[in-house]
Amino acid sequence: MEGQQKRSIFIVDDEEPIRKVLNTHLTKEGYGVIQSPGGPSVFDMLRSNSFDLVISDIRMPEVDGIKVLEFVRESFDSVPVIMLTGLNDISIAVDVMKKGAFDFIMKPVRKEDLMNVVRKALANRDLRLRNKELELENREYQLFLEQKVRERTKELNSKAMELQKAYGILKSMNIQFINVLAETIEAKDRHTSGHCNRMRQVCVGLGRLAGLNPEELEILEYASLLHDLGKIGINEAILNKEGPLTEEECRHVKEHSLIGEKILIGIPLMEQVARIIVAHHENFNGTGYPRNLKGEEIPFAARIISVADLYDAMSSDRPYRKGLPLEVVVEEMKRVAGTQLDPGLVNLFLESKVYQFSRG
Ligand SMILES: [Fe+2]
Repeated sequence: MEGQQKRSIFIVDDEEPIRKVLNTHLTKEGYGVIQSPGGPSVFDMLRSNSFDLVISDIRMPEVDGIKVLEFVRESFDSVPVIMLTGLNDISIAVDVMKKGAFDFIMKPVRKEDLMNVVRKALANRDLRLRNKELELENREYQLFLEQKVRERTKELNSKAMELQKAYGILKSMNIQFINVLAETIEAKDRHTSGHCNRMRQVCVGLGRLAGLNPEELEILEYASLLHDLGKIGINEAILNKEGPLTEEECRHVKEHSLIGEKILIGIPLMEQVARIIVAHHENFNGTGYPRNLKGEEIPFAARIISVADLYDAMSSDRPYRKGLPLEVVVEEMKRVAGTQLDPGLVNLFLESKVYQFSRG
């Protein structure tokens, strides 16, 4: 047993000669031995000593071996119990095995049998202890992992919130920037005061009725504000000219669709807006500009803008004329549905009286 901690064995037997024999065998093998003759005091002795194994007789007066076994099983979970039994006790021996004894030894005890079963019982105890340690380690590791997951989740949540906040700021900057651009366009073309804002209201109203989702509505909103952005590149004198334009001037004004696209196409998040605004003067029957797109080739949002744009151009006041009456505007829109404008959208616009959105 050199190099190992001394193992201690608790012996319970009412017959002293048997205790002596066991004591001799076990101490010779290097084990520590605690002896008890049994009786009610055995429980106190068990409680006040520390040991690795219990060897207990079954038949004893007052407190029998089964009571000892039950006490040890309840109080010292990992301590194995070996029972001593006489030849005619075999059925009881089987019974105590069921109650949790590790094994039993027949009396008279042969040293070889005793040492064999003691070694096995102690190995079993070591395994149980190691198992318990592993369970504990496992549980601790699990708790550690759970804690880590909680911390990581918290971190991610706060990062997500920061991102959300940053996105909100970015978005509001974007809207402010677009509004500034829209005002710049209006400042340049004195015919169109308030036009961009009315366009925004009518376009978003019509888009919502047409079933666009929130992201599509947002793009449409930007495009409605910026549809005439290209006018920045058009000669101011021509834009503000009263009376009919020459053919050359007309061609020049028409360039605003492509100029607007050119300005926005390289800006991240604005590509979709660029593709819409370039098409806001396309006609449903393919006779518009700049690319003669037809029907569904024209982006849906651009078709919405065309409807709103024609309505606003006819109904709003200009410095040199009053806006046309509603009945006249409605008639004209019906007349160009299918040629200039998407007829489905004109229907929706008129049936739902979307024009009311621009009149506050
Ligand atoms: Fe335009």
